[in-house]
Amino acid sequence: MGIWPQLCLCATALLLAESAKKKSLKHKNVEEEEEPILYTGVQYYADCPPECNCLPNFETALNCESRRLRRVPNLPPRTLHLYLQHNRISALTIEPFSNATELRWLNLNDNRLTSKKVENKVFASIPHLLHLYIENNDLAKLPSKLPTTLQQLRLANNRISTVSPKDFARLKNLLLLDLSGNRLGDASFTSPLLTGLSSLIQLNLYRNQLTKLPPKLPSSLFQLYIERNAITTIPEGYFNDLKKLFSIRLNANAITDDGIPRGVFNISSLLELGLAHNQLTQVPDFPAHLEYLYLNHNQIKWVNVSSVCDGPRISADGPPRLRYFRIDDNHIKRLYTTELMICFPILQALIF
Ligand SMILES: *[C@@H]1O[C@H](CO)[C@@H](O)[C@H](O)[C@H]1NC(C)=O
Ligand SMILES: *[C@@H]1O[C@H](CO)[C@@H](O)[C@H](O)[C@H]1NC(C)=O
Ligand SMILES: *[C@@H]1O[C@H](CO)[C@@H](O)[C@H](O)[C@H]1NC(C)=O
Repeated sequence: MGIWPQLCLCATALLLAESAKKKSLKHKNVEEEEEPILYTGVQYYADCPPECNCLPNFETALNCESRRLRRVPNLPPRTLHLYLQHNRISALTIEPFSNATELRWLNLNDNRLTSKKVENKVFASIPHLLHLYIENNDLAKLPSKLPTTLQQLRLANNRISTVSPKDFARLKNLLLLDLSGNRLGDASFTSPLLTGLSSLIQLNLYRNQLTKLPPKLPSSLFQLYIERNAITTIPEGYFNDLKKLFSIRLNANAITDDGIPRGVFNISSLLELGLAHNQLTQVPDFPAHLEYLYLNHNQIKWVNVSSVCDGPRISADGPPRLRYFRIDDNHIKRLYTTELMICFPILQALIF
């Protein structure tokens, strides 16, 4: 055999790698050269840009999705709803928006926007915007000067690693903030900057890099989703000011028994609690009015029914209302289901 076959294999591998590289380059070039898909027929609305489809029965909407666009078309003043998802837009400038000052709804999901190429005042130029979707792009930070009217801001799956109080101070009307799938860490939330969002109902920080919960949350919150981070502990009294919270999802973190202070989930409005895929060895106490409890995929060895039954007394407001209880994928040898059913009379699903 000797050294030759090896050299030979090596050379072949190199050649293969080279050709794969060429292929991918070629593929990229083809994509770059592909022209936007334009409409050449007569448009129902004379002012409809050729990049878009304007439906006769939906006068305020421009459908310009999946057209290989690299820039935002010039928008007519009647545009209230603009759909630009699934394109190749990498920059946002003010110009095309200059007549569309009434824009309410802008969808830029699945494009190639980077923060550097979003012109500073683009969003200030559309002051009535209510919904802004920029998911699956390449943003490193929040767009600046977002209009105060904004109600929904969806920025999932970018690479945002910093947020500043300035970003949020203006957003008094924001109801929903989705920053899931970004790169936010504990350092991103050093000050209680979220409290400025005084109308916020849903906060989604799913799949980031937090090991601690943000220092303070707006008291208006109904839904808190912080799954798939690396949180170990819930601070004592953390939810004390959140009197409207009905859903907490902390699944897929690293929460231990010691990380849950006694009575921390004593929240009068709480209906759903997700603690699946953590490191619990026992059932934490939860309020009697809780309806959905997810504890699957932990390290719980046994369920002390009298203690679990006792736990709900942290809010003595009537009989336990648990309907749905997942405790599968733990290390439980025997579950006293009858006793659980007696304790939770309206339990509809017990998954173990
Ligand atoms: C805005 O409207 C004016 C007047 O109709 C027109 O001249 C101009 O080209 C429009 N700008 C854009 C970006 O569509
Ligand atoms: C089960 O829970 C009850 C009530 O909290 C407690 O008194 C008892 O000691 C527990 N049993 C065990 C074996 O831990
Ligand atoms: C739970 O909260 C209620 C009122 O919010 C309070 O009266 C009660 O003492 C609390 N229970 C525990 C165990 O902290």
